[in-house]
Amino acid sequence: MSEVPSTMMGWTKVRPEPDGFDLVEHVVPVPQAGEVLVKTHSTSICGTDLHIWSWDEWGRSEVPLGTITGHETSGHIVAIGEGVSSHTVGDFVSIECHLACWECERCREGNAHVCENGAIFGVHRNGAFAPYFTVPAANARLNPDTISAGDASIQDPLGNAIHTLTGGPVKDSTVAIHGLGPIGLFAVDVARAMGAKKIIATDWDNQTRMDLAKELGADLVLGKDDDVVAEILSATGGVGVDNSCEFSGAAPALNNAIKSTRNGGWLNILGVYGSDPVVPVNDIVFRYLHVKGINGRKMWQTWDTMQELLAEGDLNIDKVVTHRLHWHDFQAAIALMQEGNCGKVVLNFE
Ligand SMILES: NC(=O)c1ccc[n+]([C@@H]2O[C@H](COP(=O)([O-])OP(=O)(O)OC[C@H]3O[C@@H](n4cnc5c(N)ncnc54)[C@H](O)[C@@H]3O)[C@@H](O)[C@H]2O)c1
Ligand SMILES: [Zn+2]
Ligand SMILES: [Zn+2]
Repeated sequence: MSEVPSTMMGWTKVRPEPDGFDLVEHVVPVPQAGEVLVKTHSTSICGTDLHIWSWDEWGRSEVPLGTITGHETSGHIVAIGEGVSSHTVGDFVSIECHLACWECERCREGNAHVCENGAIFGVHRNGAFAPYFTVPAANARLNPDTISAGDASIQDPLGNAIHTLTGGPVKDSTVAIHGLGPIGLFAVDVARAMGAKKIIATDWDNQTRMDLAKELGADLVLGKDDDVVAEILSATGGVGVDNSCEFSGAAPALNNAIKSTRNGGWLNILGVYGSDPVVPVNDIVFRYLHVKGINGRKMWQTWDTMQELLAEGDLNIDKVVTHRLHWHDFQAAIALMQEGNCGKVVLNFE
């Protein structure tokens, strides 16, 4: 294990404006009690990072200036804080970015992903667009040998997809995936691997992503030129799908999802909306829909399911990860994501 330097450069939000990131020198953090120090292997770019980059209302309200951002990451443990017995130097880990107190009612009932005292790694405190970071040991999830190093950083969005899909039935069920950003694309892949009977995928007009969804195994791909509700009903014998998953954050997609889920079916919503969408609530009532908001990943059921799926080797992660760049090319990676002709974009540190 090479020696840990005392300082490092890290992509830091320094100015309260769009972009506003500089590569700034920081002291390499020392792991405190209960923490581990990780040498970054790779960090992927999330839609959240675009919000921070563009410095929208959400970014302004959540991220302190001076923060090294980046939360979808993996790496090797290089030092351990006092009292940590769960990990050892050399362990290859991926990070669960929801930092929980493990003491509140939500944590104790098994919902640490919505901890009452929670914070997000790489949003509220320094993250992983830098070569080293510290994190509570509990958030450093050990990667089994069955996970390839190059795939390890994408478990945060892959876990979002799995958490959303498994809010309803998947195996032998009809599933609709609305919104084909990186998470929606992961969901198409997971639905196929989990044995969905029929997968219907919708986007607005992103042809690159619609083509990818088809390649990943979607049976039917719909876009802005289609009557989405009519097409889904017609593909499901007039009744609608068993399980609708909303990954676009667009109100029209949520409306379509409500109107094309079968009576007694499931609607799982991960998308985050710019403003509160107006939706046909009576359809939810009369269709007797199970509607669920999805946040993060269950700790640790989602991770367990995900690692089983990754171990089976049936996922096509490399199709969804369309670009791998050197971490110095952070700005180019953001530009790629903004342009949208991509799936997941990963920054390599090694
Ligand atoms: N709840 C959580 O824990 C959580 C975590 C991560 C991301 N998110 C949210 O999940 C969503 C997906 O994130 P992402 O980064 O995968 O995707 P993204 O936001 O990059 O892409 C969304 C996709 O939806 C498509 N779209 C737009 N309008 C549409 C419509 N009417 N019908 C169908 N598709 C439409 C766009 O063309 C785009 O391809 C976002 O809203 C994001 O904010 C939530
Ligand atoms: Zn993310
Ligand atoms: Zn808690």
